[in-house]
Amino acid sequence: MLCFPKAKINLGLQVLRRRPDGYHDIETVMVPVPLHDALEVTETTARTDIRMYRTDFLIPAEQNLVYKAWKLMADRHEIKPVLFHLAKKIPSGAGMGGGSSDAAAALVLLNNFFRLDLSTDVLKSYAAELGSDCAFFIESKPALAQGRGEILKNIELDLSSYTIAIVKPLKLFDGQTGVSTPVAYSLVKPDAERASLSDIISLPVNEWRNKLINDFEEPIAQKYPEINFIIQQLYEAGAVYAAMSGSGSACFGLFESKNPALNFSRDFFVHVAQML
Ligand code: C5P
Repeated sequence: MLCFPKAKINLGLQVLRRRPDGYHDIETVMVPVPLHDALEVTETTARTDIRMYRTDFLIPAEQNLVYKAWKLMADRHEIKPVLFHLAKKIPSGAGMGGGSSDAAAALVLLNNFFRLDLSTDVLKSYAAELGSDCAFFIESKPALAQGRGEILKNIELDLSSYTIAIVKPLKLFDGQTGVSTPVAYSLVKPDAERASLSDIISLPVNEWRNKLINDFEEPIAQKYPEINFIIQQLYEAGAVYAAMSGSGSACFGLFESKNPALNFSRDFFVHVAQML
């Protein structure tokens, strides 16, 4: 049984307050994007394992969110060991939810594979235990996310006429391949006294620039000038809106043109596709 876990981007992200449990209350709009991994589940007589393809490094199975998804299911339901094959296309440490999307897909696959008949709401609550943005990927529909990112309200947002360019530095100048989420949170000063994102998102896309803010963008761009370079290049190539996604380091641009003239060197991951 096979599925294609999608990546997401954040359209605006406000860090509202630090919580006593160490997490932060946020408000963000998440939308699925046309970039996906492939995850297959098959039977095995041995232990649950994950074979990963197209990654530079192997994460030990026990630390992988896909394995954690199987373990969570196995603790609560009668399921057997399985073998996962995971082909990675979504970059890691990108702020695109790649790991969370794989984990959510694993929950959905296991639900179908073992005919558990769990509802979408139950799957979402399991997903929220695995990661703050994981519940979004059970349905992967445009949503306003609140709380830790797990409280979702579906919204009407049709970006299907736009072309998206997703650009991420393969390596940041300090040698890191991506941005750590806890580090990104530590760089932001929370502020709960701002207008709701829903009001800004309902404006036409060409009015989002300078209004729709991702709180992580400024501090991460201060640390990594590559971010501002990418966003500037995207605007120069004609993007209607460009920003960093989540805690970075991937950035995206939305274009009216089908073939934006991008000129990034081989030091960047670049993916261009029609929006969903
Ligand atoms: O929930 P997840 O495992 O994806 O979060 C990773 C880390 O990011 C958390 O341990 C926490 O430090 C930070 N985080 C946060 N507030 C959120 C989501 C994540 O502080 N809403």
